[in-house]
Amino acid sequence: MTEYPKPRTLRAGPVDRTRSYMPGFSNDFETEALPGALPQGRNSPQKANYGLYGEQLSGTAFTAPSHQNERTWCYRIRPSVKHTHRFAKIDLPYWKSAPLVDPDIVSLGQYRWDPVPHADTPLTWLTGMRTMTTAGDVNTQVGMASHIYLVTESMVDAYFYSSDSELLVVPQEGRLRFCTELGVIDLEPQEIAILPRGLVYRVEVPDGPARGFVCENYGQKFALPGRGPIGANCMANRRDFKTPVAAFEDRDAPSTVTVKWAGQFHETEIGHSPLDVVAWHGNYAPCKYDLRTYCPIGAVLFDHPDPSIFTVLTAPSGIEGTANIDFVLFRDRWMVAEDTFRPPWYHKNVMSELMGNIFGIYDAKPRGFVPGGMSLHNMMLPHGPDKAAFEGASNADLKAEKLENTMSFMFETRFPQHLTPFAAQEAPLQDDYIDCWADLEKKFDGTPGVK
Ligand SMILES: [Fe+2]
Repeated sequence: MTEYPKPRTLRAGPVDRTRSYMPGFSNDFETEALPGALPQGRNSPQKANYGLYGEQLSGTAFTAPSHQNERTWCYRIRPSVKHTHRFAKIDLPYWKSAPLVDPDIVSLGQYRWDPVPHADTPLTWLTGMRTMTTAGDVNTQVGMASHIYLVTESMVDAYFYSSDSELLVVPQEGRLRFCTELGVIDLEPQEIAILPRGLVYRVEVPDGPARGFVCENYGQKFALPGRGPIGANCMANRRDFKTPVAAFEDRDAPSTVTVKWAGQFHETEIGHSPLDVVAWHGNYAPCKYDLRTYCPIGAVLFDHPDPSIFTVLTAPSGIEGTANIDFVLFRDRWMVAEDTFRPPWYHKNVMSELMGNIFGIYDAKPRGFVPGGMSLHNMMLPHGPDKAAFEGASNADLKAEKLENTMSFMFETRFPQHLTPFAAQEAPLQDDYIDCWADLEKKFDGTPGVK
C-alpha cells in the first residue's frame, strides 16, 4: 500500500494589528473598523449591520471602461446627505481656479520664487492655500492649479472636500495628518498623498508649521505611467502606494463643512463629524507614497533619456501620450554616462513645466533654486542649465558620480500656466532669474574643434 505524505498544516503568520495601511494602487480594497460591519458578497443588504447606512461614492461615471471604473461602497453612521445642509458662499481669496487670466500679469516668462515664508496669522489647510498658477478650465474639467500651502493650525470640527479636483500633496516642511472619511494618512516630507475628488477630510498639523506644494488636478485621475519596454518593475511600484484602513468618528459637535465646487467655496453647518465610515470596500480611496521607494531608470552608457523617464504619476488628457499633468521626480541617482553632457539639456517644450525643490541641490541650477522654492518654464519658453552648471558639466571628469542630497519634482501640463496675482505680486519672485543665462557666451568662431 502506498504511503502518502501527511498534508502539512499551513501556519498563519502573526497578525499585525498595528498596520494602518493597505498596499497597492487602485486595488479593490476592503476594510472594516468593527467586525462584521462590511457586508460580504453583496453591497446593499436590506438592513446593514450595526444600523449603518450603505452608500456608494462614484469617482468615475458608472459607464467608464472597467479598467478605469472607480467607486467605493461605504457603510456609515449617517448617509452623506446628513453631512451637508444649506450652502453659503464664502471667500478664500488666495485659493484660485482656472480660468484666471489677469490682463495686467505677464505669465510669459521664466520665473523662479524663493520659499514663501509663513504668515504672522494662523492659517489652516483652507486659509493657508496659496495658488501660484492655474491652467485649463475647472468647469470643463481640464487642466490644473499649483499651490503652496502654509499651515500652522489644525482644522477643528471643520471639514473640506473638493468637487473640482483630485489633490496631489507634496510636503516640503513639517508633517500633516489627513483624517479622511476612509481612514487616516500621516504624511511627511519625501512622501506624497493623493486625495480623490469628493473625499471629505480635515487636515491637522501634529507638530507645528507645515509647508509644501499641491497639484490640483481638474481632469482624469492620476495613474501609473505605462512602463513599455522597461517591463513590469521599477519607477513607482504599485505595492509602495498605501491606502489607510477604515477609521471613524462618532462625535456630535457643531461642525463646518467647506466645499469647493466649480471654482467657488461654500460653507454648510452640521451637528456631527462626517468622518463616520465604519467599513468600506472599493477602488476609489486616498493613498500615500514614499518618494524614497521610487526606483529611477536612467542612462547607462551615453546621452540621457527624456525626463519623462522619471514620471511617478500621469493624469491623461484624452490625447494619447499627452498628459493633463505628469508628476515627475528628480531624486538622488548615479550618473555614469560617458562623453555626455549630464545635466538636463537646453529645452523648449510644448508642455509647461512647474518645478519645486523638496530638499538639496538640483543639478541644472546649483544656485538660486532652493528647498521650498519653485520655478516655472511655461509653454514654449526656453530653459536649461545656467552658466555654472554648463561650464561645470562641460569640463567635468566623467567618472561615475552619485548625485546626492537632491529631491525636486515637476508638475508638467499640456496647458499654459497663468500666474495668479499672489505669484506675480506677493510671493518672493526672483527678479533676476532670467539673468542666470546672461553670461553664457558665444563659443563659435567658425573654426572646427572642441571649444
Ligand atoms: Fe524642460
